[in-house]
Amino acid sequence: MTRRMRTVTARGHAKVNLHLGVGALRPDGYHDLVSVFQSLNLSDTVTLELAPDTDRVSEGTIVSGLSVTGMDAASVPTDDTNLAWRAVDKLVDHYRGHHDLEEAQRVHISIHKGIPTAGGMAGGSADAAAALVAAHALLSERLPALTSATLLEMAADLGSDVPFTLQGGTMLGTGRGEQLTPMLSRGTYHWALVFFKEGLSTPVVFRELDDMREQGTAPGPRMETEVLSKALLSGNPREVAGALHNDLEVPARHLRPDVEAMRRAGLDAGALMGMVSGSGPTVAFLCESELHARDVLDDLLADGAYSGTVAHGPAKGAHLIS
Ligand code: C5P
Repeated sequence: MTRRMRTVTARGHAKVNLHLGVGALRPDGYHDLVSVFQSLNLSDTVTLELAPDTDRVSEGTIVSGLSVTGMDAASVPTDDTNLAWRAVDKLVDHYRGHHDLEEAQRVHISIHKGIPTAGGMAGGSADAAAALVAAHALLSERLPALTSATLLEMAADLGSDVPFTLQGGTMLGTGRGEQLTPMLSRGTYHWALVFFKEGLSTPVVFRELDDMREQGTAPGPRMETEVLSKALLSGNPREVAGALHNDLEVPARHLRPDVEAMRRAGLDAGALMGMVSGSGPTVAFLCESELHARDVLDDLLADGAYSGTVAHGPAKGAHLIS
């Protein structure tokens, strides 16, 4: 008889940027951002399965392997370049350095993807945030729990969007996107999301924006969010629709003209507004209600060329589910 090993599972949520203003390229290779993030109920799950008690290591990675199922699974790395794997390593290194962790039981990571990969919806960041939460739950059973400030610092080291996916809700992000302030937002917003088979690389889209600005073919940074802040307080999706903005939309459209064709199709189908999510290529359509979002999506997916889903926000940050 095989004994089932102990598992811990956490969920990490996708995000859309209701506003994404991109400033100058900094010496460290990042751009200054003003971003308004909203988490969505679309999510991935990350499960850590503990190896038998005798399978322990005192140095190096505790991860014995990583497997991926679900959407775009074949394009997700299954080695230590995966952000979830790096998140577990980072947490273990912290406990080794600060809390005398000598030996740790090895773990296998299983990720189930509901968020598209390289789609501009922070799928990799959501996995990292969920892996941090799950690994922290395991390690803090015997060792001191870490403060949320420490976890957020680790999250920022892993990637610019990881702190937000850890926290969730609706937040203003500044710096490279990792410095967060909660924003007041009333109501629930319903989205129709259209995914593309081929993803877009985030650094390539940022570089394209810099190149286009140099050539004068992309507008300068738009960093004000006052109109959007007021709209979010109204709880009225029509007001919010009028205040959505993404500086990365112009370069994403330039790299992938099919994105603009889809955005127009969504507006023709009756969406309040359509925009590229983050660095794209996912196109997010804000709708009046869940029913409206379903109608718009049905229209856009009718010919079978694209996939997509409806989702709503704001949703939670990364959290344990079992
Ligand atoms: O932080 P993260 O590793 O997710 O960023 C991926 C890439 O996106 C960076 O290497 C950089 O090219 C670009 N980026 C940027 N400015 C930001 C965030 C990301 O240029 N604020």
